[in-house]
Amino acid sequence: MSKPILIAQISDLHIKAPGALAYGKVDTAAALQRCVAALNALQPRPDLAVISGDLADTPTVEEYDHLKRLLAPLEIPFIGIPGNHDSRAMMRAAFPDQAYATSEGGLNQLRSVGGLDIVLLDSSVPGKPHGELEPATLQWLEATLAASPERPALLFLHHPPFRTGIDHMDVQDLSNAGALAPIIRSHPRVQLISAGHVHRATLTQFAGVPATICPAPNHAVDLDLDARRAPSFRVEPPAFHLHVWFPGAGFGHVVTHHVPIGAFDGPHPFFGADGKLL
Ligand SMILES: [Fe+2]
Repeated sequence: MSKPILIAQISDLHIKAPGALAYGKVDTAAALQRCVAALNALQPRPDLAVISGDLADTPTVEEYDHLKRLLAPLEIPFIGIPGNHDSRAMMRAAFPDQAYATSEGGLNQLRSVGGLDIVLLDSSVPGKPHGELEPATLQWLEATLAASPERPALLFLHHPPFRTGIDHMDVQDLSNAGALAPIIRSHPRVQLISAGHVHRATLTQFAGVPATICPAPNHAVDLDLDARRAPSFRVEPPAFHLHVWFPGAGFGHVVTHHVPIGAFDGPHPFFGADGKLL
């Protein structure tokens, strides 16, 4: 039986220039260092890491240079997609080895890992906080999914295509999710849609497919479902997602593990040398 494929997802790194804090509070560089250490400690080692947007914060070339230095110790190959805090041109310049589908426009890409396709969609709109899939991106997605109908696929984009209930984020979601849904519905090989942007873990369905948001290694958007407070963040326990795809009948199946970042007590055995519960 072929082995599972492990895809780590980290999101919303918001790397600033060295020494600068995000919003004057959050040391996003230190947060990423802890995240990279946690990824490197995973056993078995993930096959690939996906960074689902907001790699930089302002953005500036200096921030991407800082990001590259922080990612250098990562022992897992990675691919990234832009978020609303990124610059397509700066990302192309910072990561020239990435296999983007086109030399200009959206930074979409397809990466095949064993029997699994990883499809990355660029939902960024230059200069705007909300997301939108350009016509060329939608056409590329349709053609890419149609090209290998037998292969399971995981789809990543920065902006969630669904409402979360956090109003000030929902107005920045994917504005043309209605154009994405029929493409997903017509290609059952899509097994998971995963986004970032909201800095906190969620689970729902979109177009009949499980859909998640990956938490961030730094700060979380405050869980405010009643619009009581001004848009706010909270430094909650940092985390990332580990998607494990198991081969099997049909398209196999994928399980998403929520992995907290930090030093925790354990692991401790459940059973003693006599085989009895301790
Ligand atoms: Fe973000």
